[in-house]
Amino acid sequence: MMDGKPVATPEKWLKERRPELKSLFQHYMYGWFPAPVTVTSEVTYTDAHFLNGQATLKLVTLKLGAARAPETHLMMVIPNHRAGPAPVFMGMNFSGNHTLVTDTNIPLATSWMGGRPPNIVNNRATDASRGTQTNVWVFDQIIQRGYAVATYYCGDIEPDTTNAVGGVRETIHPASATDDWGTVAAWAWGMQRVVDYLVTDKDVDKTHIAEVGHSRLGKATMLAGAFDDRVALVIPLQAGCGGTAPSRGTVGESVQRINTSFPHWFDGEFKKFNTQTDLLPMDQNCLIALCAPRPVLLGAAVEDTWANPAGAFDMLKSADKVYRLFGAEGLSAQTMPETNKLVDSTLGFFIRPGKHSMTKLDWQYFMDFADKHWGKPRTE
Ligand code: GCU
Repeated sequence: MMDGKPVATPEKWLKERRPELKSLFQHYMYGWFPAPVTVTSEVTYTDAHFLNGQATLKLVTLKLGAARAPETHLMMVIPNHRAGPAPVFMGMNFSGNHTLVTDTNIPLATSWMGGRPPNIVNNRATDASRGTQTNVWVFDQIIQRGYAVATYYCGDIEPDTTNAVGGVRETIHPASATDDWGTVAAWAWGMQRVVDYLVTDKDVDKTHIAEVGHSRLGKATMLAGAFDDRVALVIPLQAGCGGTAPSRGTVGESVQRINTSFPHWFDGEFKKFNTQTDLLPMDQNCLIALCAPRPVLLGAAVEDTWANPAGAFDMLKSADKVYRLFGAEGLSAQTMPETNKLVDSTLGFFIRPGKHSMTKLDWQYFMDFADKHWGKPRTE
């Protein structure tokens, strides 16, 4: 505890330390989440013969609270051979649902987007970007293993730019104080609202919702999962500084660097720690520990030293003691595993060859880990 007292029971962790840490992360780093708003949904399109008849494609428009708040366009792909509601991997994508498949029935993302012609013109997606990211969310393989996917463009919640307009930070709760929410918190809050919808969707097994996100979206995933007990499995991939790597780390991106390059991601308070991270009252081990005793899987890539793989492994090692407090398994490895060896204990880890990206191989680890902790999905 901040007063120096130890936490020796799960009850004390849940009643006192967890709320204390949630306050510390919101005040000093991400900014405060506003209260939830009512989410309304409308299914705008279904195709029961998607992916050669293997899956059902369902497009759902979510309206978050206030009339001016942006719409979130959720793309759901659900296996047709499921026996009952399907376990789901949910997460944001970087460049719009229309980039993930070639199917022209998927509307182009309409919210603000960074990038260059021909894919992006005047900060809007064009037809040239259709199907340009088909190897990132490998729907066919996910479906074959009995999992559903629910994904949406991160910019539908909040544009990834300084002085952003049109996102939830303008329309739901305008940020002005030094501890008002930054973009990462806005994305995480949006993920919580999408879970509000998913738990009502009859096609989804609401006890088996996994959140997945890569890099900056992995930072949001770590935060969203830590604060939301409805999320049964949290998978931040290569989330790095401000996500799963230590703020006090000496490898890769520093707090000062991230706050300078991306001043909108975190709150004003976090900038006060730029040159004195040792004064932070918490580090990212505590964010992982907020998930206890739920499974968390961290993924890393050998060439992605910017995200500090060894530092992320250290954060897991340190979170282990909170899992043990719950009598949960925690982390089974003492040292970082060799390349392509999945540590599949409740706190899981893998490092694969290659660069900073989300690939088919990463998905294999995600699904192997989910199979281990949830059992293989029931199929017909
Ligand atoms: C930059 C940034 C990272 C971030 C990454 C990404 O490299 O420095 O913090 O994770 O972009 O989102 O791809």
